[in-house]
Amino acid sequence: MARRGNSIIKGIEINEIITMLNKAYADEWLAYYQYFIEAKVIKGIMKDAAIAELTQHATDELRHANMVADRILQLGGTPLLNPKDWFTHTNCGYEEPKDFDVVSILEDSIKGEQCAISAYSNLAEMTRDKDIVTYDIVSEILADEVEHEEDLQALHDDITDFIQDIKKKI
Ligand SMILES: [Fe+2]
Ligand SMILES: [Fe+2]
Repeated sequence: MARRGNSIIKGIEINEIITMLNKAYADEWLAYYQYFIEAKVIKGIMKDAAIAELTQHATDELRHANMVADRILQLGGTPLLNPKDWFTHTNCGYEEPKDFDVVSILEDSIKGEQCAISAYSNLAEMTRDKDIVTYDIVSEILADEVEHEEDLQALHDDITDFIQDIKKKI
């Protein structure tokens, strides 16, 4: 635990930050697995472009889990030790892929990113001017989640436009 590092936190309970970070940690693992499995089962038109995007996102979510776990440890907390706890702590839950079509998979993933943006935005609000280090980490992750949403939406729109064009030509 970083004693001097933690002494600069003002106006917020460290335990409260650890609790919130563990919720984000659960979200990151679930998001990682969601992207991992989506990239495996996805089917349909332009699926290769989607697989590349989903795989990149899986890598990013795992990196986020690492960043959050390291910060929890710095604060003197313990990252969730049992995957069972991911489901009781998560903010955003887990969207089990039910329809493997590219468009449905992208829609599920967009929902997940939108929830992640809200969760990290709350964390940034909570830590701003109080815990600068956590604020910096959650702001960096928030920027990635915003980029993820944008990338998925752009791909979703390209694919749905392409499908519309084909339908017009038939
Ligand atoms: Fe993430
Ligand atoms: Fe993301």
